[in-house]
Amino acid sequence: MLKGRPPKELVYKTSFGLMFKGQAGEILSLPTLDRMRGKVQLIFTSPPFPLNRKKKYGNLQGEEYIDWLVNFAAIFRTLLTENGSIVMELGNAWEPGKPVMSTLALEALLTFLKKGEFNLCQQFICYNPARLPSPSQWVNVERSRVKDSYTHVWWMSPTDRPKADNRRVLQEYSPSMKRLLKSKKYNSGKRPSEHNIGETSFLRDNNGAIPSNVLTAANTSSTDPYQKYCREQGLQAHPARMPIKLAEFFIHFLTEPNDYVLDPFAGSNTTGAAAEALQRHWISIEPSEDYVLGSRGRFAPSSGGLHDG
Ligand SMILES: C[S@@+](CC[C@H](N)C(=O)[O-])C[C@H]1O[C@@H](n2cnc3c(N)ncnc32)[C@H](O)[C@@H]1O
Repeated sequence: MLKGRPPKELVYKTSFGLMFKGQAGEILSLPTLDRMRGKVQLIFTSPPFPLNRKKKYGNLQGEEYIDWLVNFAAIFRTLLTENGSIVMELGNAWEPGKPVMSTLALEALLTFLKKGEFNLCQQFICYNPARLPSPSQWVNVERSRVKDSYTHVWWMSPTDRPKADNRRVLQEYSPSMKRLLKSKKYNSGKRPSEHNIGETSFLRDNNGAIPSNVLTAANTSSTDPYQKYCREQGLQAHPARMPIKLAEFFIHFLTEPNDYVLDPFAGSNTTGAAAEALQRHWISIEPSEDYVLGSRGRFAPSSGGLHDG
């Protein structure tokens, strides 16, 4: 993937990937990454969150945040293949001190979409049934709001026909569908909705059900190998890791083996781990030393795929 002397920002590499430590804007302008321009099939990322208060890893607020995110639109465009995709996950935000939602995350996504002249290919929701009640003041104490338990996932692309194939993300049929396929009897005909349901279309076994755009994924437990590795090494585990199933879903759906996947705001490198397992090349970038070092725990030494940069 890289030719010549590795840059000092490269912390480790695996059979398929490169993990860089630094700010995304700086790393993506390194001359070593010039050969990636026009080659990245999928940019899959969960950007730092717009916060109402400043947090440790320097999250920006309000308009400043939107401007910061939007600057990446042009950079990402130069990296993508002609039929490449950008998938961004952003959670909900709340106004400080009031039981009122902030529209900042949505504004940031919309401004990014417009400035980059991307198409919104599809909007997804990632529902986490295990999410703790939040914001706790309004949900647990005042009891005037319900649990906030999903994140927005926007799939964008410079083209309206990015590479995508839902046959790569089929889900197991429901028990009732399995029974139906077995019985080979279907109540065909016109529905109240005016849809005319033909017999054969519903009785064909397509090896699985086409998923909906509401994805359900819970975060991994505190006993996963990543957490264990961070504890053993005395490193701070990333507090906002995305469910690996989410990364796997989009990598399967929008790329093929040996394609390139980039996560410019990689945190604990969930994206890199999913890409490695699915044999896609990956490049990940994260400025926090603890998160970069901790992410090594996602690549078992027994796989023989982890080397220093
Ligand atoms: C929401 S987290 C990503 C979590 C990640 N998806 C995971 O599963 O672990 C966003 C990350 O962006 C990083 N970040 C903040 N500013 C950045 C920048 N300028 N360039 C690259 N990463 C940045 C933060 O340190 C944080 O780890």
